[in-house]
Amino acid sequence: MTFVEDARRRRAARLLDAADAQRAAARALPRGIREYVDGGAEGEVTLRRNAKAFEEVAFAPRMATWIDEPDLSTKVLGSPIDLPVLTAPCGGMRLVHPDGDLGLATGAARAGTIHVASSAAGYTLEDIAKVEGPQWFQLYRFSAQSTMENLVGRAQAAGYSALVATVDTAVSGFRPRDYKNGFSYSMRVNARNAVKLAPQLLPKPAWLTRYLLDGLPFEIPNTAQVTVDGRPMVLTEMTKGGAGSHSPTWTDLGWLRANWQGPLVVKGILTPEDALRAVDAGADAVIVSNHGGRQLDGSPATLTALPRIVDAVGDRAEVLCDSGIRRGSDVLKALSLGARAVLVGRLPAWGLAAAGTAGVERVLEILRTEMVRTMRLMGCRAVTDLDPAWLDAATVPGPKPKEAS
Ligand SMILES: Cc1cc2nc3c(=O)[nH]c(=O)nc-3n(C[C@H](O)[C@H](O)[C@H](O)COP(=O)(O)O)c2cc1C
Repeated sequence: MTFVEDARRRRAARLLDAADAQRAAARALPRGIREYVDGGAEGEVTLRRNAKAFEEVAFAPRMATWIDEPDLSTKVLGSPIDLPVLTAPCGGMRLVHPDGDLGLATGAARAGTIHVASSAAGYTLEDIAKVEGPQWFQLYRFSAQSTMENLVGRAQAAGYSALVATVDTAVSGFRPRDYKNGFSYSMRVNARNAVKLAPQLLPKPAWLTRYLLDGLPFEIPNTAQVTVDGRPMVLTEMTKGGAGSHSPTWTDLGWLRANWQGPLVVKGILTPEDALRAVDAGADAVIVSNHGGRQLDGSPATLTALPRIVDAVGDRAEVLCDSGIRRGSDVLKALSLGARAVLVGRLPAWGLAAAGTAGVERVLEILRTEMVRTMRLMGCRAVTDLDPAWLDAATVPGPKPKEAS
């Protein structure tokens, strides 16, 4: 182990929980990158709602039981995983740390779970696929069907086991913190804006050194070979808008179902109606997600939306959930309400910021430890035993699955 790796491991080992990882990330990152990760859309109403929804649900524990080793393993789309937590697709992670998406994929693999590689990753989908371990590929449309088709063909060739179409990004959400910080996907650290960015970057020399040594990566490598109007497409296409939606539409989903050989997952579902439409379009799973409060502000918390979607979908497809998960207890609440597994976005990003790959491993290990302890305190033997009866009915959102008509 090199000196740098050893130092990162020691730094990672000191992280105690999500709040601690977030503070460590805040110390490591320039303001613009920190707020890009932490921030939400518009008034951040949905961002706050996500956290509140998890806080408000209480357990119905079964006391006086002794569980030696709670079983955290489950299956997602037929693949066995040791931890019911996937690492969510997140663009821009190479700005957080040069390990970026490779670090996220490595951390997930070491935790025995699946990484979902983002279309807007800092490494090509081919490079990320080389990391040992199961991976899914998240798809944006990038305003052009040809771009989407290019990505799908490459993801298939690279060996991703499932395709995740994100449908909540017709346009990019407006995140005031990014706007104020001068941070957007199109921002490059160049001579012109170096002066403007200096107050943010100079107080973070370690981050700046890593970023310079990494070659100031700011493009979307996945779209480097793709041309839009005869020129290479870069991340600016996303923020600028353009001819069409960044998300696949229902028509695109038809094309994807016909052309993707393997499980199709639709991410960004918030209503039973859309969940059923996705299943009718051939989705094998849906992810109940509001993009971590980064897209449509005013969306419901996903924990609130989850029970009705689980009830509507039944056993026609698997239901996963993300947005706002910070603790092992949050994972167990989502699973009790019918999620097969959850995804975490900011949590691994904070670990990555704090200590690179070792930090990603550490935050997933923290989640595992929290889940084990919580299950022992609840008297729950296995995550596959969880159902709404493990929750205090008075605190559970919406009509409970059994009562729904
Ligand atoms: C910095 C950042 C970048 C993201 N980029 C993407 C992306 O490229 N594609 C996508 O489908 N979702 C993206 N998301 C949303 C995540 O996949 C996930 O839905 C969300 O982070 C879950 O909420 P959490 O951060 O509270 O765990 C991003 C989230 C963050 C925080």
